Amino acid sequence: MSGPGNRAQWASNLGFLLAAAGSAVGLGNIWKFPGKAYEGGGGAFILIYIAIIALVGATVMLAEFIIGRATQKNAVGAFCQLRPAWKWVGGMGIFTGFIILCYYSHVGGWVLYYLCGYLTDAAAISADPTAYFYRMLGVGSGFPWGGAGLFPLLFAALTVFVVVKGVAGGIERLNKVAMPLLFLLLILLMVRAVTLPGAMDGLRYMLQPDFSLLTWNDVLVALGQAFFSLSLGMGIMCTYGSYLSRKENLGRNVGIICTLDTLVAVLAGFTVIPAVFATLSASGVGKGAGFVFTAMPGVFQAMPGGVFWAILFYLLLFFAALTSSISLLEGTVAYLTEQRGFSRKHASLALGVILFGIGLIYTLSQGHADIHGIWLDKNGISYPIFGDMLEFLTDRLLLPLGGLLFCIFAGWVWGTKNGIAEVRQGGRFRFPLAGLWSLLVRFVAPAAIACILIAGIVFG
Ligand code: TRP
Repeated sequence: MSGPGNRAQWASNLGFLLAAAGSAVGLGNIWKFPGKAYEGGGGAFILIYIAIIALVGATVMLAEFIIGRATQKNAVGAFCQLRPAWKWVGGMGIFTGFIILCYYSHVGGWVLYYLCGYLTDAAAISADPTAYFYRMLGVGSGFPWGGAGLFPLLFAALTVFVVVKGVAGGIERLNKVAMPLLFLLLILLMVRAVTLPGAMDGLRYMLQPDFSLLTWNDVLVALGQAFFSLSLGMGIMCTYGSYLSRKENLGRNVGIICTLDTLVAVLAGFTVIPAVFATLSASGVGKGAGFVFTAMPGVFQAMPGGVFWAILFYLLLFFAALTSSISLLEGTVAYLTEQRGFSRKHASLALGVILFGIGLIYTLSQGHADIHGIWLDKNGISYPIFGDMLEFLTDRLLLPLGGLLFCIFAGWVWGTKNGIAEVRQGGRFRFPLAGLWSLLVRFVAPAAIACILIAGIVFG
């Protein structure tokens, strides 16, 4: 550890890259992206998404890395050092991250539940995937000890464990194993999916850009998705960047991380959609949590050796979710240890307990008849009002707002001259896109983000 004042640092640039990619590649890539790309017209949506990542996503990511590494501090500490009046922006980011973590880690618990389900009694899932999903959530039965208790608790405990072990000794070590495995699993699954008879229709749909299916709303969806997928807008990338040594090239790292994250999302789209087309027909494509937990089991059931592929798939989701959820926890832990004097262990454990508790309400509100009886629809399934509220607050409002403020700060308040100097490190690195970045961070990205924010508020 050679950071100033013994601050934690990544052991290597590769470790940093994998950890940042691990944060970015998550449930967002594997369940959110394929469904959204399908709805947005496949190829056309993918093209727009890539353009947004290149223009807006990479711009904001670089701004976060710059602020983090320039100060070598957590999101609040960084603003405190540069412009104390802005420290609430860091605070807001940390709050947002923690709220996301509360539900994210519970969904991670559901993934573990399915992983164990396939390992022990696959027939129970295949018999009726939808019923299985709601049984996990306790709809119509008693308190769901597995789906709301044991497995989310296990997932939260794993997240806490890795963060307690520290930046290089925990987060970096896990990512160095989990990320290569994740890529391997994804490639295996994709080869399996596209070689299923009938998969070509799905693949064609994903590859042929049909711009007539694309609406403005899809463009906004793509923008919001890009933010979520790259883990932007709440100072997580700022914190991860703060553990990076000044001997590393920020610009190149941003390029690699954005490429990896996008590649995983697109490959997941090329895996899930053809598999669904081949086995369930195009109408089987849905979105959201239910998609991964109710539609995919149908796909595996229709495939030869489905249980094996199901285990690989949920293992892939598990790694993706875990590496993202530790990044969400680390953002808050870094704040509590550096600004508030907590020990890493105490901060992680205390947060683990709180997040499990809040997440519990999320899982139960997905479908627990006893608790949310008043919200039952006519099929007896309760509306996930609490979850929708959290997601609206974070995805639609706080994340874009955070990103917007990061851009304004890097582009106008602290200034792009300082930012560019941080990348160049006195001439150690070339930054040929400096002029373009200035333009994007000052004008293009804030304007684009303001659009998602306003549309989010107006259209809900
Ligand atoms: N990027 C992750 C995903 O795609 C989720 C995530 C992790 C995240 N850290 C974040 C989202 C920070 C927003 C901000 O699933």
